Amino acid sequence: MPGYQEPTLVASVLSTDVHDLGGLLLELERSGVDRVHWDVQDGRSGPHPAFGPELVAAARGRVDLDFEVHLMVDDPDPVLADWACAGCSIVIVHAEAHRHLHRTLFAVAELGARVGVALGPATPLCAVDHVLDMIDLLLIMTADPGPGGQPYLASVQSTITAARAEIDRRGLDVALEVDGGIDPVTIGAAAAAGADVFCAGPGLLYGPGTMADRVAELRGAAAAARDLRLPVGAG
Ligand code: DX5
Ligand code: ZN
Repeated sequence: MPGYQEPTLVASVLSTDVHDLGGLLLELERSGVDRVHWDVQDGRSGPHPAFGPELVAAARGRVDLDFEVHLMVDDPDPVLADWACAGCSIVIVHAEAHRHLHRTLFAVAELGARVGVALGPATPLCAVDHVLDMIDLLLIMTADPGPGGQPYLASVQSTITAARAEIDRRGLDVALEVDGGIDPVTIGAAAAAGADVFCAGPGLLYGPGTMADRVAELRGAAAAARDLRLPVGAG
């Protein structure tokens, strides 16, 4: 049933040292993370330097984890193929970047990647109303584009709730991801609002215990909050 999948845990490696990336990817895989999230910013939509597709293509051979790319850039069209060819099975572009969003999403699908659209924290859900039925994943940013480790913006909660309601109302098979400030506390709020995919940087990568402990804690908190939201007998 749409919306009732097990929580998917995605690791953002934006806040890590690229020199340690090989070991980190192996540790993420061993610890049960579902996929890796590569943030790409162009200095306008976000201030930080990007991972290049060459680095990601090299990392692709190290692990079996799925890769997704989050293109926080004003004009993603020229680089879509670079990222799909680098091994990103999900390509996520921003709704705000486009006057012709359909064209870009069709291009992603033609590359054989799953189609993702992101909304910044200030963008209302209606910005994706016309494409919701043609995407695989909707990512709602719960922090502004920028560095990793920013706080979770609780004001975005209503957008997550509205997105879950609309996805379920239309009976769509669209994953609902949140990205920004996810930790063992905020993941519960996002899951309660209806998110089922959780992208986390420092809240997953650093903290007490092992990586596997943190994966289990995050997954458990998301599942518990989701179960409170569900009608009895669903799941
Ligand atoms: C922010 C990025 C996020 C970020 C993850 O511009 O899109 O993916 O790295 O959020 P944190 O680091 O807060 O968990
Ligand atoms: Zn991101």
